[in-house]
Amino acid sequence: MNVGGLWQLDDQPPKFDLAQIGEGEWSQYRYRQFMAIENDSWKEVSLGEGMTPIVPFDDDVLLKLDYCMPTLSFKDRGAATLIAHCKSIGVDHVVEDSSGNAGNAIAAYCSRAGMTCEIFVPEGTSAKKIQMIRSHGAKVHIVPGNRDRCADLCRKRVKEEGSYYASHVCNPFFFEGTKTYIYEAFEQLHRIPKYILLPVGNGTLFLGVMQGLEHLLESGCIDYMPQIIGVQSEHCDPVYKAVKAQAEKVEEVKPGPSLAEGIAIGKPMRGHEILGYARKYGVRFVHATEKEIAGSMAQFAKQGIYCEPTAAANYAGYREYCRLYGRTHDCLIPVCGSGLKSDYSHSL
Ligand SMILES: Cc1ncc(COP(=O)(O)O)c(C=O)c1O
Repeated sequence: MNVGGLWQLDDQPPKFDLAQIGEGEWSQYRYRQFMAIENDSWKEVSLGEGMTPIVPFDDDVLLKLDYCMPTLSFKDRGAATLIAHCKSIGVDHVVEDSSGNAGNAIAAYCSRAGMTCEIFVPEGTSAKKIQMIRSHGAKVHIVPGNRDRCADLCRKRVKEEGSYYASHVCNPFFFEGTKTYIYEAFEQLHRIPKYILLPVGNGTLFLGVMQGLEHLLESGCIDYMPQIIGVQSEHCDPVYKAVKAQAEKVEEVKPGPSLAEGIAIGKPMRGHEILGYARKYGVRFVHATEKEIAGSMAQFAKQGIYCEPTAAANYAGYREYCRLYGRTHDCLIPVCGSGLKSDYSHSL
């Protein structure tokens, strides 16, 4: 495999139609008609991921609890489809880099599939995430420096050793899983809310959801694109800056310290694609400040939702959006990672 190649799938799913979903399948694979799936390998690999609840938070906000997943984050959607693909082509060992959650998910699905894996994480990654990756039998490499350096080093090693790079960013089979987030929301609500808020680090949920929304639009299930709101940390905001400057490309930034480790990506590999969607659909980007992230985490916890700071950053971004644009009704926000895996809790 060309290491770090940003592959796209040449796949044209049939028109989305709720009458065509596999109602008997209680996982994201009920949408398999609309996913690029080659055979039944998903059945051996699936841990029942998907089908996460949507609950009202207040009069304006709906939360999709995507931490209700086998490894406690939305990354299970993509890891399940990516590892099922690897299994179907006979790969038995993979290598991946991650800020933690994608590594947790890849390690879990590899163990489920009877495959081995190595996960590269940056120093400072939550101890619980590292422990969880190891528990699945994966080898963990802790890389000094930030998340971007970790990815660079991982790709170098993959290239030298000729391993299979199961990157959640590069490999397009990952997005076949993350796009089910929006199919599911459409099935649950029988509509798509007017505002869709999405975290953007490398943009794996963002890109999957944009692909899914375009599919719903082309299929006539929705008649306009909702207002998409991308959230980045105030201390790591390369796409925010590019959109604001109406730039042609996303320039690398040096990530500052942030509670939101999952979105601390200074050099998003698919930055040009994210920017392309931003231009095409008028996506607005907002900052999540450190203070608002901590406050949002505490606010969620008071309503029974124990999430990690990166997930709380989404609500912090929503509050910033309301400050800039006024009260915003009918917004769907992902709570995409559990607090149980995070080392941070002292504000609660
Ligand atoms: C909980 C959580 N939310 C959001 C993100 C951001 O995902 P992406 O980098 O694909 O945009 C991550 C990434 O690790 C994460 O763990």
